[in-house]
Amino acid sequence: MRLPVFSPKFTAIAALVGLINFNSVHARTATSEGDEAQITDPVEECTAYYYAPVTNALDGFPTIWQPASILSNDTEALSTWANISQSVPTNIYPHGDIYGDWNDTSYNVASDPDCWWTKSLCTTPKLSSLPSDIASIPEPETMGYGFDDGPNCSHNAFYDYLLEQNQKATMFFIGSNVLDWPYEAMRAIDEGHEICAHTWSHHYMTGFSSEDAFAELYYSIKAIKLVLGVTPTCWRPPFGDVDDRIRAIAEGLGLQTIIWQYDSFDWEEQSGNITAAQVYANYDNFIAKAGNGTFDSEGSIMLTHELNNFTMQTAVTYYPKLKDAFKYLVPVGVALNKTQPYVETNYSLPTFSEYVAGTTTTNSSGSSNSTTSSGSSTSQSSSATAALSHTKDSTLFAMIFLGIFVLAV
Ligand SMILES: *[C@@H]1O[C@H](CO)[C@@H](O)[C@H](O)[C@H]1NC(C)=O
Ligand SMILES: *[C@@H]1O[C@H](CO)[C@@H](O)[C@H](O)[C@H]1NC(C)=O
Ligand SMILES: *[C@@H]1O[C@H](CO)[C@@H](O)[C@H](O)[C@H]1NC(C)=O
Ligand SMILES: *[C@@H]1O[C@H](CO)[C@@H](O)[C@H](O)[C@H]1NC(C)=O
Ligand SMILES: *[C@@H]1O[C@H](CO)[C@@H](O)[C@H](O)[C@H]1NC(C)=O
Ligand SMILES: *[C@@H]1O[C@H](CO)[C@@H](O)[C@H](O)[C@H]1NC(C)=O
Ligand SMILES: *[C@@H]1O[C@H](CO)[C@@H](O)[C@H](O)[C@H]1NC(C)=O
Ligand SMILES: *[C@@H]1O[C@H](CO)[C@@H](O)[C@H](O)[C@H]1NC(C)=O
Ligand SMILES: *[C@@H]1O[C@H](CO)[C@@H](O)[C@H](O)[C@H]1NC(C)=O
Ligand SMILES: *[C@@H]1O[C@H](CO)[C@@H](O)[C@H](O)[C@H]1NC(C)=O
Ligand SMILES: *[C@@H]1O[C@H](CO)[C@@H](O)[C@H](O)[C@H]1NC(C)=O
Ligand SMILES: [Zn+2]
Repeated sequence: MRLPVFSPKFTAIAALVGLINFNSVHARTATSEGDEAQITDPVEECTAYYYAPVTNALDGFPTIWQPASILSNDTEALSTWANISQSVPTNIYPHGDIYGDWNDTSYNVASDPDCWWTKSLCTTPKLSSLPSDIASIPEPETMGYGFDDGPNCSHNAFYDYLLEQNQKATMFFIGSNVLDWPYEAMRAIDEGHEICAHTWSHHYMTGFSSEDAFAELYYSIKAIKLVLGVTPTCWRPPFGDVDDRIRAIAEGLGLQTIIWQYDSFDWEEQSGNITAAQVYANYDNFIAKAGNGTFDSEGSIMLTHELNNFTMQTAVTYYPKLKDAFKYLVPVGVALNKTQPYVETNYSLPTFSEYVAGTTTTNSSGSSNSTTSSGSSTSQSSSATAALSHTKDSTLFAMIFLGIFVLAV
């Protein structure tokens, strides 16, 4: 059959085939990190895909998005906990539940015996064996640039923008999101962002028993190790909810606690609890402070999110203004000259001086996705294969149908 390839009629038909595929057939599923990174439609970006190394390892993790506990047969986790638990205080109790409902009404906020950030914004532990949290940035006029709650499946427009700007950030990843969206997580590390943990299921940490709080951290760093090949050495508590008991658990796992000084409240816009205008006002206020000398002797951190279109678009919109207001925008680890950000020694970040002189990555790229392509191309799940062949069949069907239509007119 001879097709009038370049005729306007065919172009219109091709567009129609595209429409049929887009609207009535499953979106295609990504097959590699590079493939996922090229998708521009958010719905298609968020179409679940199959990645064998994750599927094959799910038995070793708690249920995704459910509060974690140590799996009863996970001997490695149990022995690590047995070791760490010896340095976790037993005289600090959960302050309430994991949803932030605080029943601990007798807590003395004024003396703040547990250095409970949620009540007091305390960042200097009462327990002398613990290091202080990172809340500000030692470098003057510098913003520690970072985003919580990723990887979000629809982050391509945001990450494309960061790449264009040659801007790196600290990404605080939720373990459940990393296993749901491994290619998105790979894109972050391969593009030079620093990866820290943000727990397994994103609940209030001081509401967990010590063993479950350990599991929340343990399985989030295990998820990052599985997908990215590296073990993080930093974490941020969801909602900032941390006290000395939780800090001791994090310290036992080698995780530095990173908090913030200003909250954009971008994360609350989706719930309707705060308006977009209020979020912009929070950004503007932070920028005004940078402009009037508030950060001239010490830089700062504002809480912002890789959570949804609003939080990411607001980050994009405000990037030029932040860049103008601050002398430097750098990942938190870079501001601390933390050149070895992971337990594994084969990966390094630039120093602060190197970064601000233009070397924004060192030998950070080209590793986590070499295993990716082999992992995914050799093993498609039956559902992914079905979705793909469904698309192909429909296209073929549409083309035959339209071919008949063309011949008829
Ligand atoms: C590996 O990651 C780089 C950087 O994100 C990307 O350009 C490349 O396409 C990826 N390769 C594969 C095979 O996914
Ligand atoms: C642990 O138990 C689960 C089922 O509860 C099983 O799927 C998994 O393979 C077991 N893991 C080990 C290391 O034995
Ligand atoms: C136990 O903890 C200590 C530090 O508290 C550490 O040096 C040691 O490597 C740990 N051992 C295991 C088996 O995790
Ligand atoms: C608050 O609730 C937690 C978890 O439900 C419980 O472990 C704790 O004992 C309770 N504390 C008080 C003071 O009632
Ligand atoms: C670093 O080594 C680990 C194994 O120890 C590997 O999984 C990872 O891909 C390596 N990363 C780089 C950047 O070479
Ligand atoms: C909205 O804010 C109120 C008061 O701070 C709080 O009780 C409620 O849980 C919030 N709702 C959501 C959906 O965040
Ligand atoms: C700087 O601006 C902020 C926000 O407008 C204000 O709260 C703060 O008092 C100002 N500080 C100085 C030193 O002017
Ligand atoms: C990721 O962002 C999209 C909006 O682009 C949102 O619909 C989705 O719920 C987000 N995913 C998660 C897990 O928060
Ligand atoms: C947010 O959504 C709009 C409309 O779909 C899109 O044009 C824009 O690129 C998105 N922004 C980000 C950062 O994802
Ligand atoms: C980082 O290194 C630079 C250059 O050596 C130094 O001036 C700065 O004080 C260091 N910052 C920290 C937090 O160690
Ligand atoms: C990355 O850099 C570190 C520190 O400079 C070095 O030890 C390591 O060999 C490098 N790894 C690769 C894969 O180039
Ligand atoms: Zn969060």
